[in-house]
Amino acid sequence: MTVFTITFSPTGGTKKCADLLATGLAPTHTHIDLTDRTINPSSIAFSADDICIVAVPAYGGRVPGTAISRLRQLRGGGARTLLMAVYGNRAFEDTLLELRDTLDAVGFRPVAAIAALAEHSIVRQIAAGQPDQIDATQLADFSATIRERLESGEIPQSLAVPGHFPYREFGGIPLKPQTNLSTCNGCGKCASLCPVGAIPLDKPTETDVAVCISCMRCIGVCPNTARFLNPDMLAGLSQKLLAACGGRKQNELFL
Ligand SMILES: Cc1cc2nc3c(=O)[nH]c(=O)nc-3n(C[C@H](O)[C@H](O)[C@H](O)COP(=O)(O)O)c2cc1C
Repeated sequence: MTVFTITFSPTGGTKKCADLLATGLAPTHTHIDLTDRTINPSSIAFSADDICIVAVPAYGGRVPGTAISRLRQLRGGGARTLLMAVYGNRAFEDTLLELRDTLDAVGFRPVAAIAALAEHSIVRQIAAGQPDQIDATQLADFSATIRERLESGEIPQSLAVPGHFPYREFGGIPLKPQTNLSTCNGCGKCASLCPVGAIPLDKPTETDVAVCISCMRCIGVCPNTARFLNPDMLAGLSQKLLAACGGRKQNELFL
């Protein structure tokens, strides 16, 4: 039995949550990074002996479109699968339902679903520092419950998860990172690590806003802090989200 973590995690919060869950299931696991444009998802196939943790962030209460198109190319082969939606303390809405439907269609066997919390990748003061020790303890408890479920062999015919179909609309957000021309040294790290190739390698100060998914990877990886968001637009979004997020939410397990 091999445990795989399959993540789309532009700023690392989703991967941290997946790793915490995986560690409670097995001492080692193999990682597949769906933000990596150099991998060919259609060459990856799993088998019924495998356990997969598929973790995605919630974007507007949906699975990011780029993650969906890469997940659709995998071959599940009957692998028992844990679905994970990681969100920034607002809401995950239809993310788990869309993830379940997508994975069902390519041969994964969903056995449990988790909604987990991580620092908001745009408004960093929301869920700041999460997942933290409290989240780690909750996710370790979920791993223990899931391990028992896997050992018992009780696998639901169809896993019930929250969400509605048709899924809510999400057409992206207008907030696109820009480059500070006086601090960018043109190293191209942002361009090579952009999950969608929105930054030209030969002109990393530019961004194709029609391609950019506002995932914030470029801001996170820039060694010179040269990528930034329009401060007025960020302040507006922060105010709106801080009002909408309320108090700290709990990680949830659906079996
Ligand atoms: C474009 C975009 C949309 C987002 N939409 C939501 C949302 O609907 N609800 C929420 O609670 N958090 C939302 N977030 C926050 C992310 O879900 C959260 O920060 C997640 O941990 C990011 O994953 P990552 O660190 O792996 O990139 C959004 C973030 C981005 C970049």
